Amino acid sequence: MADEAETSSRDFSNLRLEDFLAMSEEERQALPKARLKKMQKLAALAERKAAKAVELEADAELQQQRRLEEARRIHIELDPRLPPPQSCQLRDVFASEAAEWIGRRVLVQGWVHNIRFESKKLAFLDLRDGTGFLQCVLTDKLCMTVEAITLFREASVRLWGTLREDARAKGGLELHADYWCIIGPSHRDIEMILTHESNPDVLLTHRHLVIRGRHTSSVLKMRSIITQCFREHYFDRGYVELAPPTIVNTMCEGGSTLFPLDYFGEQAYLTQSSQMYLETAIPAVGDCFCILPSYRAEKSSTRRHLAEFHHLEAEMPFITFAQLLQAIEELVCDVYARVIHRGGELFRELNPNAAPPKRPFKRMDYADAIEFCRQHRIYKDEESRTPFEFGDDIPEAPERRMTDMIGEPILLCRFPIYLKSFYMQPCADDPDLTESVDLLMPGVGEIVGGSMRMWDHDELVKAYEREKMDASAYYWYTDQRKFGSCPHGGYGLGLERFCCYMLGVAHVRDVCLYPRYRGRLTP
Ligand code: 4AD
Repeated sequence: MADEAETSSRDFSNLRLEDFLAMSEEERQALPKARLKKMQKLAALAERKAAKAVELEADAELQQQRRLEEARRIHIELDPRLPPPQSCQLRDVFASEAAEWIGRRVLVQGWVHNIRFESKKLAFLDLRDGTGFLQCVLTDKLCMTVEAITLFREASVRLWGTLREDARAKGGLELHADYWCIIGPSHRDIEMILTHESNPDVLLTHRHLVIRGRHTSSVLKMRSIITQCFREHYFDRGYVELAPPTIVNTMCEGGSTLFPLDYFGEQAYLTQSSQMYLETAIPAVGDCFCILPSYRAEKSSTRRHLAEFHHLEAEMPFITFAQLLQAIEELVCDVYARVIHRGGELFRELNPNAAPPKRPFKRMDYADAIEFCRQHRIYKDEESRTPFEFGDDIPEAPERRMTDMIGEPILLCRFPIYLKSFYMQPCADDPDLTESVDLLMPGVGEIVGGSMRMWDHDELVKAYEREKMDASAYYWYTDQRKFGSCPHGGYGLGLERFCCYMLGVAHVRDVCLYPRYRGRLTP
């Protein structure tokens, strides 16, 4: 009985297939039913996969033996009489007019994205070098050697050959190889690990291989371009980039999502936001920003929550709430335009339906959002059809329904004080409300959260008391209100959410190199 109670109270959401397979039948039966079913399904799938692999292997083995015998007699060599090749990256080839490259002998290297044999004496190899793709043609002996017939996807290779015009090839060029060699071989397992049926979990476990795919590598490149565009936006306006620490001993956004850390015997946390450190820096450098990871021990797994995300935060002295809203609108629209320009073809391929956000952004008060939900049958709880009341938090799902119904960006403003963080400036006309804002985008929901900051010393001390916070840990934050305080405000934008919005990707984990969220710590 005690064992059973222990089993049911344990969290099995991280149970790995190999651990499940190592369990006795008795142990398996003690698992929660849904988990048992899922693990059985995974085990059956793995078994089917293994059986298929054995069958395919035997077949291929026989044929391969015959081809290998023939291949061992074939050797290829570099021809020293040919003109010396120009060593290049694929981006160089496609950066200029195709005509410039036609007839040139080049040396290229990269990974075999794909290889297909049209016949015994003709193979097409799609080369990928991280900067682009190039179709390479291998003829006669070049595709009959042992290396050619034992070549697997993802081997790294070096090819010498002449670029020729080919209207069917992407970019209008293909390489007719005169010699090639393997740098690092691959393995036939590559065909088994990832298939069209692979479920998201398998894909995430093998993300180190998935990222080599055309779509995922394009998303990662676009994320880099988007980050660059944010930096350019800020540098063009004279902001200073700072690097606050991410190991901290204070909280910024409430204690419930803090990741604790043992810092040489002292209690520390991974930061939830760099905002407070940026605030301290405005008397030193003026307008400033940072792009750094923030951490949230989010209990819920949704398509917009990560445990580690990249947080783009900015802080500005001597601004008003209206100017803060304007700065957020300008940031999103300016970066959108920059990304379209810089991303070019890559961006259009990923999101052909992208359209710049409609301006000006709709300004809407929290109170009006509650009214909107009440009028449009968006409920606090769908099952019991409980309507929203003023003072309720608007959770993700109803918030997204409202945003999608309105269908344009919304700057949602003036939240009640008890729904928001301790540092927010109360509204001058109603101290129960705050000068706060969330930017909601159709399809994604909230991508920015910001506010004016409480800048009166005594008011801040009262806020610590109200939230039962240990003021001594925040002495440096309080000091800012003691030595030349000023009205100021800022915001934080979730880079992954912005990438989802721009690239039309549904889940934040798909725009990360290696996402971190509850239940995922590898690779
Ligand atoms: O609204 P949040 O919690 O605001 C702050 O942290 C402020 N201190 C920021 C500031 O004023 N400097 O977070 C800001 C944004 C959210 O709108 C969202 O885009 C992103 O950070 N974010 C997350 N993104 C992915 N996963 C999570 N768990 C996130 N939590 C927040």
